[in-house]
Amino acid sequence: MKKKTWKVTLGISLLTVTLLVGCGSSSTNATRGNGQGMDNDSPGHMGNQGDSTSEGSGSNIPYLRNNHDNYKEHGSNQTPSPVKNISAKSINWTISASTEEGAIKLQEHLAFMEKRLLNNQNPRAWDKLFLMEAYMKYNKYYTTSVERSGTNVIVSKNATTACAYEVISAHSDAVSGDFFGKGEIMIDYSSTAEAILASSVCKIQREAINTYILSRQMKKDSR
Ligand code: HEM
Repeated sequence: MKKKTWKVTLGISLLTVTLLVGCGSSSTNATRGNGQGMDNDSPGHMGNQGDSTSEGSGSNIPYLRNNHDNYKEHGSNQTPSPVKNISAKSINWTISASTEEGAIKLQEHLAFMEKRLLNNQNPRAWDKLFLMEAYMKYNKYYTTSVERSGTNVIVSKNATTACAYEVISAHSDAVSGDFFGKGEIMIDYSSTAEAILASSVCKIQREAINTYILSRQMKKDSR
């Protein structure tokens, strides 16, 4: 009788341990479909865009959005806009902030985002354009350089493929027109990304990028 009770207790304990281990691994979000780590250092991870601070406290996104009108094209009173060179596959900006603090905040934003991309993370993972850009940066299809001189921030992006150039070009249009121009940061540019991906310049990379997007994309309201 005593032996039977001991066996039942052992059975229940083993079952409990199995259940606990199973629940633990499914709730940690330690890996994604492709086994890559998620962005556990930001609240709600990178897919959560319910509020503008969810990219992480160092992104300065709320500051940039609130002060979007305090940035101008260098030497003019116009909204900052990129200077594009399709044959060199490069994009250059010289952005003038109204204060040195504003320039520093923008410089910090760029450093923060570049670090994320180089660490194989996905800011704004619900938006295919940002996913494509992350893919391009991590796989070294473009580089970014940033310099600051007082209130001026000089940004240069150089792509190595025509497909990567189209991606950084579309991203720069969104930054210029919606982010700086309107302070509007919730538009989804996925259809722009799909058109770029379907174009002939992305033929060679199409399959790899589609696989990447499928394994990384999150729902807009996911937490
Ligand atoms: C909606 C949230 C935002 C996200 C997820 C985001 C993310 C990014 C990423 C991933 C990059 C590219 C970094 C690189 O290529 O190394 C970037 C660049 C940049 N961002 Fe943001 N950003 C956001 C909002 C803003 C806002 C509100 C502004 C300004 C009002 C801004 C201004 C810029 C500028 C000027 C660049 C460099 C130019 C370029 O890459 O085309 N961003 N951002």
